[in-house]
Amino acid sequence: MREEVFKMKYGWKFIREDVKNAHLENFDDSHWREVRVPHDYAIEGPFHPDHGKQITEVIADGILKPRVHVDRTGALPITEKAWYRKKFFVQPNTKKVFLEFDGVMSNSKVYVNGHKYDGRVYGYSSFSVDVSDSVKRGQENTLAVSVSPEDTSSRWYTGAGIYREVRLIEKADHYFPYCPLRVTTEIKNNKAFIDVEANLVNPTQNVEIEFVIMDREGKIVGSSRKHCYINSVYEVFKLNSYRYWGIWNSYLYTITARILIDNKEVDSYQTRFGIRTIEFDSNKGFMINGTVTKIKGVCMHHDLGALGAAFNKSAAERQIEKLIQLGVNGYRCAHNPPAPEVLDLCDEYGLVVMDEAYDEWQIKKVKNGYGKHFDKWAKKDLTDMIRRDRNHPSVIMWSIGNEILEQREEDGYKIARYLHRICKQEDPTRPTTAGLSMTEDAFRTGVAFEVDLAGVNYKPHLYEQLHMKYPNVILYGSETGSTVSSRGYCDQTASIEHPIKPKSNLKESSFDLGSPNWAYPYEREFLAQDQYPFVFGEFVWTGFDYIGEPTPYRNHFPARSSYFGIYDSAGMEKDRVYSFKSKWTDEKFIHLMPHWNWEDGDIVDVHAYSSCDKVELFLNDKSLGIAKKDSKDETKSHRFIWSAIPYEKGVLRAVSVDNPSITATMQTAREPYTVLVEPEKVVISADGDALCYIRCTIVDKEGTVCPCSDIQLNFSVTGPIEYIAADSGYQADERTFGEPYCKTLSGKCMVIIRSIKDKPGTGILTVTSELGTQTAEIDTVAGKVQMQEIPPAFRK
Ligand code: GAL
Repeated sequence: MREEVFKMKYGWKFIREDVKNAHLENFDDSHWREVRVPHDYAIEGPFHPDHGKQITEVIADGILKPRVHVDRTGALPITEKAWYRKKFFVQPNTKKVFLEFDGVMSNSKVYVNGHKYDGRVYGYSSFSVDVSDSVKRGQENTLAVSVSPEDTSSRWYTGAGIYREVRLIEKADHYFPYCPLRVTTEIKNNKAFIDVEANLVNPTQNVEIEFVIMDREGKIVGSSRKHCYINSVYEVFKLNSYRYWGIWNSYLYTITARILIDNKEVDSYQTRFGIRTIEFDSNKGFMINGTVTKIKGVCMHHDLGALGAAFNKSAAERQIEKLIQLGVNGYRCAHNPPAPEVLDLCDEYGLVVMDEAYDEWQIKKVKNGYGKHFDKWAKKDLTDMIRRDRNHPSVIMWSIGNEILEQREEDGYKIARYLHRICKQEDPTRPTTAGLSMTEDAFRTGVAFEVDLAGVNYKPHLYEQLHMKYPNVILYGSETGSTVSSRGYCDQTASIEHPIKPKSNLKESSFDLGSPNWAYPYEREFLAQDQYPFVFGEFVWTGFDYIGEPTPYRNHFPARSSYFGIYDSAGMEKDRVYSFKSKWTDEKFIHLMPHWNWEDGDIVDVHAYSSCDKVELFLNDKSLGIAKKDSKDETKSHRFIWSAIPYEKGVLRAVSVDNPSITATMQTAREPYTVLVEPEKVVISADGDALCYIRCTIVDKEGTVCPCSDIQLNFSVTGPIEYIAADSGYQADERTFGEPYCKTLSGKCMVIIRSIKDKPGTGILTVTSELGTQTAEIDTVAGKVQMQEIPPAFRK
């Protein structure tokens, strides 16, 4: 019998409470709710200020005395205990049975037919449980999983439950264990060497191991077969011709390892890898395949907005596509190991990844944080992350921690050194790093010298002096920017205000000049990155808004999501998107902001982002002057500003002075007339996982977006699709995401629907509101729908 993998997606029973005897085989769960996995029960809400309330200091943000934080973890019920149960069948001749979990939030325990197994404390770690001794072959079995996320255990929204994939793996006597293959590549003398190491269990005289390497087109480019008497086998392949994996230029090989007995396959394992070289230099920066490349990266939390933490590959893929559209080439998994599929996507799209283990070592940032478990689990969690992720060409560095408080401790270097060594033992081919926020302290205590790459969080003003003082240290901005904004909103009185002052509507201006006191406008980092070639790039905080950390509205319930994203939580473009596009891509455009619907008599500022250097602005065909970028003025270095314009209804038109074919207009919207309902994709796969995001926009009779006329939209679906959630991107929306209605923000909101497995056909979303009824059709089809080509314009 060869390996069988069954995805355990459907047919789970679930209860959101702690129940006695729920682990027992014959427990009656008939009254429990049926759910599918990945599942996040906390996202079901409700939002409430008592959920996740913490009394704590936030040293990194300068809050030195403990105080109440009501919405730091998203004001969602992440700490309720819960149980999952599922029946599963094991085939008669199976010898070994494993359950693989990609992540369970958190403190999980696993029971099979009443037998208890260790789950995992850390919700972000993937793990495999050998349940061979308790399963009944040829019969039905009962799996029960308990989770009990602790109160005050995180600084952000974690989600809760079995929020990533689970698989049942059946194997014969001789088999590959969990993550058995290690593939490394090296270029020497223009040849590519592929080193492969495989672990296997129960090697015997008659066991043979076969390796087959295929290129992307399916051609075999290397193979070997050999006897194997010990637990690990090593092989090396030399490729005379090969293709590089590169940024936005993915090329993946596949290696299949097989265990053969008497020529019969008893187990197999397949993984992808890429051939690429990476080098880091304290003067030149980062080089991939020999080419110096600045990393234009973003930090990303693991939640997927309205879906919560429940992983969905099509949602993660959409995020990555949107990031690439603004020229992103780097992805930091902040601050924990991601779902494995995120790395698959980064491999496929060609993004480089900073894979991060944790946000705490021994010294805790929150009462029940990871620090509590560090001594017992840190080695295992880090080792497992590396073993799981080390074949991904996208991963280029291992981060041993973010803003670890030990960075300022005299003996902090000891833990840094210990973790660095673990990384090197598991993978000598990649550098280690850490996000250092107390940067000067980290250099004083020596923590910064224990990692290969010194990540600097929020301190572009230190780059030069650090480089002068420590010329051999390799520097980059591991966390940068952190401006805060609400999509499409602008309060003219707060146009140029730094630091920010909270407003009663819990919104922040999309002029994006405001940032908390530890942060700064992204333009400052753009300038620093241009000025210092030795700094090998940056990871902006953050690509998308995420749940939790609603700075500057902490303790202002219902503010419950972050304002930091370049995109809002629904993936809609904040104005800032265009700043990054103008800096990081070759696209030629002008983007005017925020909108042109003020009150008569208002005196307003107009800003624009553009790839052009000089832009002239016209209001109703009268020139308001030419604005220029000014590299000496941080604010004007990457944007155009026309200040104190007496508002008058009509049309604003911007024209590039050097290339008049590049223009933009923004006009006063009239009365709301209808709702445009526009699916981002018209065809999705009927695989039960594919999502379609459908944008609803309030427009006037001429199709101009009405930016200030927010109304409630109500949703229903017919046909083979499911309504999942709606999200306007408003960070203080108190409504639970799954409700079938939503109030727009700045005229827009996003609806998410999902296909139904094996039910192809046409689904219809109906939107009703005071503006009547509008619909959109989405086709779901059997088979896979191809991933989108990335437009070459973004390949700068
Ligand atoms: C950083 C921290 C992040 C996030 C961010 C908000 O200091 O590493 O996790 O909290 O601040 O600006």
